[in-house]
Amino acid sequence: MNIYYNENKRQFHLQSKDMSYIIQLVRGYPAHVYWGKRLEQGGNLDDILMFQERSSFSPNPVPDDRSISLDTLPQEYPQYGTSDFRYPAYQVKLQDGSRITELLYRSHRIVRGKPALEGLPAVYAESEQEAMTLELELADAYSGLAAVIRYTVFDAFNAITRSVRFINQGQQALSLNSAMSASVDFADAEYDYLVLTGAWVRERHMQRRPLTPGVAARIESRRGSSSHQANPFIALLRPDAGEEQGDVYGFSLVYSGSFAAQAEVDQFATTRVSIGINPFDFAWLLQPGESFQTPEAVLVYSSEGLGGMSRTYHKLYRTRLCRGVHRDQERPILVNNWEATYFDFNADKIEAIAAEAAELGIELFVLDDGWFGKRDNDTTSLGDWTVDRKKLPGGLDDLAARVNQLGLQFGLWVEPEMVSPESELYRRHPDWCLHVPERRRTEARCQLILDYTRQDVRDYIFEALSGIFLTVPVSYVKWDMNRNMTEIGSAALPAERQSEVAHRYILGLYELLEKLTKAFPHILFESCSGGGGRFDPGMLYYMPQTWTSDDTDAVERLKIQYGTSIVYPVSTMGSHVSAVPNHQVGRVTSLTTRADVAMSGNFGYELDLTKLTAEEKAIMKRQVSDYKEIRGLVQSGDLYRLKSPFSGNETAWMFVSGDKKQAVVFYFRVMAHPNAPLRRLQLRGLDTSLDYHISCLGTSYRGDRLMQLGLNLPHLDGDYASVWFKLDAK
Ligand code: DGJ
Repeated sequence: MNIYYNENKRQFHLQSKDMSYIIQLVRGYPAHVYWGKRLEQGGNLDDILMFQERSSFSPNPVPDDRSISLDTLPQEYPQYGTSDFRYPAYQVKLQDGSRITELLYRSHRIVRGKPALEGLPAVYAESEQEAMTLELELADAYSGLAAVIRYTVFDAFNAITRSVRFINQGQQALSLNSAMSASVDFADAEYDYLVLTGAWVRERHMQRRPLTPGVAARIESRRGSSSHQANPFIALLRPDAGEEQGDVYGFSLVYSGSFAAQAEVDQFATTRVSIGINPFDFAWLLQPGESFQTPEAVLVYSSEGLGGMSRTYHKLYRTRLCRGVHRDQERPILVNNWEATYFDFNADKIEAIAAEAAELGIELFVLDDGWFGKRDNDTTSLGDWTVDRKKLPGGLDDLAARVNQLGLQFGLWVEPEMVSPESELYRRHPDWCLHVPERRRTEARCQLILDYTRQDVRDYIFEALSGIFLTVPVSYVKWDMNRNMTEIGSAALPAERQSEVAHRYILGLYELLEKLTKAFPHILFESCSGGGGRFDPGMLYYMPQTWTSDDTDAVERLKIQYGTSIVYPVSTMGSHVSAVPNHQVGRVTSLTTRADVAMSGNFGYELDLTKLTAEEKAIMKRQVSDYKEIRGLVQSGDLYRLKSPFSGNETAWMFVSGDKKQAVVFYFRVMAHPNAPLRRLQLRGLDTSLDYHISCLGTSYRGDRLMQLGLNLPHLDGDYASVWFKLDAK
């Protein structure tokens, strides 16, 4: 890893293990020269950028040089209004109403390590040896606007992080109307794009399409959170790129609010990809001396297809985005009472479930929604974080002690960003929610969103939660958030700052999460937003796992978990066995298949354990002990996706240990077909020369055979069938 600067050529070469990223200053404009497979330093890169006069419809900002046009120059951080007609990376409005700024190179700095991002989550380096950072300072002489574009390159990862800090060094106020985190101009348009889209209970389905002229791809959220509908990620893939081969370029945003990512193909068949805070309904006032920091974008290059890209994101996010004592620890197997009881429970019922769980070897009991205020349904009490003594007469501490006595840790659900209009908190502070004066306050699930832009609101929530965490032995917290933003306004901000509210909300949330996770480092936090409505890298910085989806059906989960794994490590995916018929889709699948899907994530159960037959209990006991044996591999091994649920009836994936001595392979077949072909499953990521013993088959095969010829798949009976194999090198 290194960052080289060639003063003569005005070129910056950012180089990691197998990747290079090259920038060149052209008349002060930072131009994009190259991003891809590593180039050795010192080669002749002259004439990579081609300058040629185009028509008068591509204007020339440099007098007397008709070969330069911003309309054709590949750029690092393009501006609008001075000859580039493609989408800009930022836009600023001056007090005179003009929207022209011209950011030109002023200075640069190359430093070891990776400076933290003020107030925002970001990938980090644990030592100065792990990473190097380039800061390019650009300035607009007329307005006094300055921007520092920060690039970090890593030793161990083919990844570059990018962000921008705007500073108003002028005398007049500026309005920042758009501020993307990264923009990259690719030299051609021979790519497919990939995005992850969906809905509640149908998150992160893969969509891959060829680029076409115009804004060929745009994925965005205008909901105030990253959302179920869109994930803050986009990738470009060469058309021949597949799971294990070909060039892939990923863009992932470390942010939990409204975002936009797009790919635009221009008239000369070049492609501009950008990602950042959604400019829609966003503006930020920059008074003289003030600055604005964009979130961080994480760009990953892979010459080994999507699988290579995913493995880079997985390792980077698992080890250098997630933090805290739980980061590298095996995660506990849990049972959650939501689908078992919904709001209808009492202490004895909970204790009975926990007692069954203890017998099965489950390690953590999680008390879900309904334990506080008068919460017998979803119409009331959010904000009143005091225990409901009708349901839990001895209080939370008594219940936690009873659960602990059974040998289980105690976990608790909270939804601290919300307030029910039917609550003490709302009666006391009707101004504490996001709202616009004189307008309806639109409810969703009978709740409003607390105004996290306000310090007093954040302080109240911190006090309420720490009061519980200090007195109750809570080992795990499920942090839920069940609606999107409407009437986005804050009573605490002046008119000219109302367009900042959605982003300020996210900054407030991050500040509170930082404070809470620092104050209670022993608690394992899991984020949730009606399942995976905020499954994004921003939340993972504070909470190392997320409830993947409210859809617990095994078949639906194949697509959801496969799509999620495109960017996010398996250690971050909560995955539970629930009852049948499934509560979301009514499907009946076997206990084995449900567990095999759930074991491919952070394993748990979410059903009434007091209603099990002896046979079911025996199966579950085995599942729990099996998972304990393989969870290290699943949670921190390398993931290889073998068969995609998006392209057929079968799904398969496998996890391989870092030293390649152990692996576990999961295979799922959705519908049974008569007289079906006999099949072998080709494995990946093994050592070709090692012999792997497969205990359930009682035999061993060498890695080369398993990868070149494959593993014979057994006959499976019935629909929704599955099987898994554990491989141990001898
Ligand atoms: C939505 C979550 O995704 C569910 O798991 C559950 O916690 C409910 N909220 C509780 O209201």
